[in-house]
Parts: sequence; structure tokens; C-alpha cells
Amino acid sequence: MSTRERKGMMRDDALKGMVVIITGGGTGLGLAMARYCLQLGASVCITSRKLDVLTTTAAELEQETGGAVLPLACDVRKYEDVEAMRDAVLARFGKVDALVNNAAGNFISPTERLSSNAFKTIIDIVLMGTVNCTLALGKHWIAKGESDKAILNITTTYAWTGSGYVVPSACAKAGVLALTRSLASEWGRKGIRTNAVAPGPFPTKGAWSRLVPGELMERFDMAQRVPLGRVGEHQELADLVAYLISPYSAYVNGEVVTIDGGEWLKGAGQFNMLDMVEPGMWDEIERMVRSTKGS
Ligand code: COA
Repeated sequence: MSTRERKGMMRDDALKGMVVIITGGGTGLGLAMARYCLQLGASVCITSRKLDVLTTTAAELEQETGGAVLPLACDVRKYEDVEAMRDAVLARFGKVDALVNNAAGNFISPTERLSSNAFKTIIDIVLMGTVNCTLALGKHWIAKGESDKAILNITTTYAWTGSGYVVPSACAKAGVLALTRSLASEWGRKGIRTNAVAPGPFPTKGAWSRLVPGELMERFDMAQRVPLGRVGEHQELADLVAYLISPYSAYVNGEVVTIDGGEWLKGAGQFNMLDMVEPGMWDEIERMVRSTKGS
């Protein structure tokens, strides 16, 4: 399928009647997820620190999709904010079915240039933000004995490979991955599924300005790192997220789904640099290799 033709993957009513919270839902990938959840029949709460952005986005989304959107200011680092956000969603919609822990913070820097507070800031947003929202919703669901709930965390492929220059993010996302797998086991029996996605390069204004700022964008073409030769489209990620919070994935629990066009494996495979060999050179290389027979 040409990327141009791509529409949403799921059935029109896949999330009908569901209530979904998407942290960091006012812009970028969170916005793409919110829009698709609404198109599939869910009511959505979008949160971030910027209420003005959320309010404008919510009005646009409601007009575009006809769905209900609740914009709420919430700093995921603050547990009181998160509990207040949860209670406001319950007051408006009466329940929550799915939580998408999408809010994140990241920037590139040599690690030795970071202050302890800079490191802690990223851990607080990414790991503690995910923990806070997960705890607030999990406590509620378990206390009420509610089931058929889904938590979807956004991690990254460098949660398991590690990566220089984004070390606080790597540490935090590794924690998010551990949280995902741990709770899948502990809370699965309470009817709460916990899964994660690990996206590769999906350009957004916010993340890209911090990860490939200025002329770095020209120097490092992210698409070239990907075997499929392109970056991801927001709808492709929205499809996966919608599936993983929908009842169609009711038996998927504790999974982390990589969606990166093969990017991290390309970096990992020892001989993948042979991509750089001109096709015409392979006859000569084969001759050299064969000539070593018996030596
Ligand atoms: N290099 C080194 N240190 C940096 C930095 C940079 N580019 N940017 C911020 N810091 C340091 C600050 O100096 C501060 O440390 P200090 O108190 O020791 O001086 C610490 O990080 C916190 O920065 P501050 O700006 O006070 O935090 P904030 O909560 O306002 O912002 C960020 C958090 C830095 C993550 C900001 O980029 C942000 O709000 N990002 C949210 C969106 C985002 O990152 N999206 C991309 C997700 S992939």
C-alpha cells in the first residue's frame, strides 16, 4: 500500500463507548492518537502542561470528529495533579477504560554536560509521569473491582540497546519497559492489560526540535537509518496504539511492539554496514571469499 493511501486500520466502531486518557495529547503523536481514538468512537481526555494549546486542540478535534474531548492541564510529575485529572475525567465521563502514557521529555546532550537536576527532570517526566498515571488509574480500577482496562506505555528501542546522548531518557524508558512487563503479570489477573510500543523515528515538531535541532537535521537523515528508507507516519503509530487499547487485543498483555521500520536491528547487526558495498563489487568479493577455501 502506498503511504499516501493509508487510512486508519481499525473498524469504525472499534473503541465505541470507551473513555481514553492520552497524556501529552495536545500535540504531535499524542494528538494523532487522540484523533484516531475519537474517529473510532471513544471519548478522550487530553492532558499536558499547556491548557491553552489543549483547549484549542480539543475544540478542533470535536468539530472534526463529532466526539467528546476533555482538555485538562496536568503535570504528570505531580501525583496530586494526576489524581485531580483522573477525578475530573471520572466526573465528566463516569469511567476510564484506557490510559495512554504518552507524555515525555527529552533532549540531546553529552551526559557529562548534564546537571543532576537535568537528569532528574527527564526521569521525573518519563518514568515518574508514567508511574503516577498508572498508579492513579490502577488504584481506582482495583478499588472499584473494574476490569477490561488497558494501559499503553510509549517506550523506545533504546530502552534495551541503550543510547548515548539521551541517557536520562534511555534510563527512564527502560524503567517504563520494566513497569509494563511487571504489571502485565501482577495486574493481568485483575483485568488490567499493560502493553507498550517502541516507536522509531516519527517526526514531530516538538521532539525533532530537541533531538535533531538546526543543521543536525540535514547532517543526519533519520530515514537513512531505517531499512525501509523512510520515517514513520503518525497514522501508523495511531493504528497500533488503537489496536492495543481495543478489545481486539484482549489477549495481548505484557507485549512491547517495535514500530521502527527495522531501524534498531539495522544498527545492531554486525555486518549490516555491508549495505555500503556497491552491488557491482559482490562478484569480486565472492571470488575472494571462495579463493580462501582450504586455506
Ligand atoms: N542541555 C542541558 N541541560 C538542559 C537542557 C539542555 N538542552 N535543557 C534543560 N536542561 C536542564 C536545565 O538547565 C535544568 O537543570 P538545572 O536546574 O541544573 O539548570 C533542568 O534541565 C530542567 O530544565 P527546565 O527547563 O527547568 O525543565 P522544564 O520542566 O521546564 O522542561 C524539558 C523540561 C527540559 C524536558 C523541556 O525540554 C520540555 O518541557 N520538554 C517537554 C516536551 C519534550 O521534551 N518533547 C520531546 C519528547 S521526545
